Amino acid sequence: MKLSTPSALVSAALLACVPSTLALTAEQWKGKSIYQLLTDRFAPPSADAPARTQDLPAVCDPKAQTWCGGTWLSIIDKLDYIQDMGFDAIWISPVSTNIDIATPYNFAYHGYWVTNPTTLNPRFGSEQDLHTLSNELHKRNMLLMVDIVVNNVPSLSINDSLSTEALQAADVFWTNPDQYHPYCPVNFSNLTSEQYCWLGDLKLPLMDVDTENPFVITTLQNWIKNLTSTYNIDGLRIDAAKHIPGVFWPGFCGAAGVFCIGEVYTGDVVFAAEWQTQKWMDSILGYPLYFSLVQAFGTPMGNMSNFVQIGNAVLDMPDPMVFGNFLENHDLPRWLNATVDPQLAYNALIAQFIFDGIPIVYYGQEQEFHEGAGDPYNRQALWPSNYANTTTYNRIKTLNAVRKAVMTNNTMYNGQNFINSKTQFIASTDYDVAIRKGPFVAVLTNRGSPSQQVTFGVPNSGFDSTSAVIDIMSCRSFSVGANGTISVSYAASGYGGMPYLFMSQADVSSINWCGLGSQYAFKSPNATSSAVVMNPSMGLLGAGVLVLVAAGTLGSWIA
Ligand SMILES: *[C@@H]1O[C@H](CO)[C@@H](O)[C@H](O)[C@H]1NC(C)=O
Ligand SMILES: *[C@@H]1O[C@H](CO)[C@@H](O)[C@H](O)[C@H]1NC(C)=O
Ligand SMILES: *[C@@H]1O[C@H](CO)[C@@H](O)[C@H](O)[C@H]1NC(C)=O
Ligand SMILES: *[C@@H]1O[C@H](CO)[C@@H](O)[C@H](O)[C@H]1NC(C)=O
Ligand SMILES: *[C@@H]1O[C@H](CO)[C@@H](O)[C@H](O)[C@H]1NC(C)=O
Ligand SMILES: *[C@@H]1O[C@H](CO)[C@@H](O)[C@H](O)[C@H]1NC(C)=O
Ligand SMILES: *[C@@H]1O[C@H](CO)[C@@H](O)[C@H](O)[C@H]1NC(C)=O
Ligand SMILES: *[C@@H]1O[C@H](CO)[C@@H](O)[C@H](O)[C@H]1NC(C)=O
Ligand SMILES: *[C@@H]1O[C@H](CO)[C@@H](O)[C@H](O)[C@H]1NC(C)=O
Ligand SMILES: *[C@@H]1O[C@H](CO)[C@@H](O)[C@H](O)[C@H]1NC(C)=O
Repeated sequence: MKLSTPSALVSAALLACVPSTLALTAEQWKGKSIYQLLTDRFAPPSADAPARTQDLPAVCDPKAQTWCGGTWLSIIDKLDYIQDMGFDAIWISPVSTNIDIATPYNFAYHGYWVTNPTTLNPRFGSEQDLHTLSNELHKRNMLLMVDIVVNNVPSLSINDSLSTEALQAADVFWTNPDQYHPYCPVNFSNLTSEQYCWLGDLKLPLMDVDTENPFVITTLQNWIKNLTSTYNIDGLRIDAAKHIPGVFWPGFCGAAGVFCIGEVYTGDVVFAAEWQTQKWMDSILGYPLYFSLVQAFGTPMGNMSNFVQIGNAVLDMPDPMVFGNFLENHDLPRWLNATVDPQLAYNALIAQFIFDGIPIVYYGQEQEFHEGAGDPYNRQALWPSNYANTTTYNRIKTLNAVRKAVMTNNTMYNGQNFINSKTQFIASTDYDVAIRKGPFVAVLTNRGSPSQQVTFGVPNSGFDSTSAVIDIMSCRSFSVGANGTISVSYAASGYGGMPYLFMSQADVSSINWCGLGSQYAFKSPNATSSAVVMNPSMGLLGAGVLVLVAAGTLGSWIA
């Protein structure tokens, strides 16, 4: 929606009162995929989305830690880019008012230094603008996930910050010292300390809100109920959820009435599982899976058994289908910063999208950003990329699209629909792994780009012997051996340890993929043709040169 005149604003305001969607539950978020963006960094101001900050820097330098000019309205300018990649939802930075002066870490361009949850951050737009973004998403059949911060409030001093006078002078929402826990520095080896002590540091302490205080509890519940209903928010990402005792959350998320996914920054699968077994929250971000993917695919010949072990533990949790699976976010290194071999990133990407859960892509991952070992360097402006059609953008688009096609096809696998059919590890070696979900078998490796004279065989893949399977990423066809064995060779020069995402030829045809049908254009295998010579025993059809004679016709392969 383009707003330029006051009357347009008025009619937009009227539109905003028409409820467009109902809040979405965890069950309804299953099968979605989410694009995480920082509001300030995703899209620049434009004629339709004027800057809300004066004197913006000419070039957005992440280490300067200041505003670069993105707003709720500028996000709308680039929604096509996100939607074309196949995402169902965006997760935006916290929308509440932040400390608005220079701190020892400069400005709150990221939105996490909330001083008043109940008012909107004018740096990102007006109430009307947030309505407009929400409406525009819903018009496109997309969802709005908002990041929220309730655990802490920034302060500029440890000493005296908890006097009524200091709190009033700081213009924070919680002005009574009783609404905070007293100062102590967090000890990250002690959960009680993590919950009651202050995050941040001596330069920028984050005062820990007393979320046992009944007035605080009621006020936060009323606020979140109002926020989600006022702006038709479909889901919440909850910052520092781990730092508030779990018992706080059911009342809070119940009041919100929408799906909650919490930031529980831990590799501890037992503690992570408690969030669901104790029913504290619908879902948490998949840090255990992330750490295991780093172990497995973060370095060439890394620890694949870690992925198998942690992955299985994650699959044993009550509802792995709602965990948020990510490779990057605003707190972590860009994947390509820590792992320069692009084949490893490609393998990890397939794992991210095929493993049970909700894939979440942090803006810039699709642009193959490799600068950014951590905060603030991993928060670059996206616009210098020109929103290019990169290889990774296309892979993500393919993965989102094929998941959607399979969901739409609505087949049951062992009595479950695709989303609820549990991922299974079906084979592994020290460096290779095969996982199945629904009609897919992903064959992954951490061997990296250099070719190796090895073959990874996956017996009992579930595919019929002597049938054909197709790698849906490249649309190349392979034949299945006795006992349903598929085997891939990593000997091809220039490809080495590339990932495969197999589906039976019949299933590929049923969803009109790879030109086997009319819906999707056949992808020319040219680029990977003769260079990829598989183990001859696999009986690769036509050595990768699959030529489809007539779209929509099965069996019209010429070797
Ligand atoms: C805070 O108080 C402590 C002890 O009272 C003192 O050592 C410290 O320097 C003070 N810090 C600041 C930032 O004023
Ligand atoms: C942090 O907590 C752990 C476990 O409770 C404890 O053993 C350790 O001494 C604490 N460290 C500090 C610096 O207090
Ligand atoms: C853990 O932290 C809490 C809160 O600071 C403290 O009361 C408790 O003594 C700590 N436990 C240990 C074992 O250090
Ligand atoms: C609900 O939020 C709106 C928009 O921020 C605000 O104007 C209104 O006062 C809030 N209502 C309550 C009951 O808090
Ligand atoms: C790999 O991960 C497994 C499972 O977590 C662990 O037991 C093993 O020690 C790790 N191996 C190496 C070489 O780090
Ligand atoms: C990783 O990011 C840092 C900045 O945080 C940069 O200096 C470094 O060159 C990057 N490394 C790679 C491999 O891109
Ligand atoms: C993006 O690149 C892919 C692969 O090269 C191509 O198939 C597609 O048409 C391109 N899309 C646009 C919008 O240019
Ligand atoms: C197929 O499975 C059977 C029974 O497990 C086994 O005896 C046979 O050797 C297998 N054949 C191949 C080619 O792996
Ligand atoms: C799609 O549905 C058809 C008909 O039920 C089924 O035969 C086919 O296996 C399904 N395809 C996939 C990819 O699940
Ligand atoms: C694809 O292959 C055809 C036939 O060999 C060739 O004419 C064409 O140039 C190739 N295209 C690319 C992009 O390599």
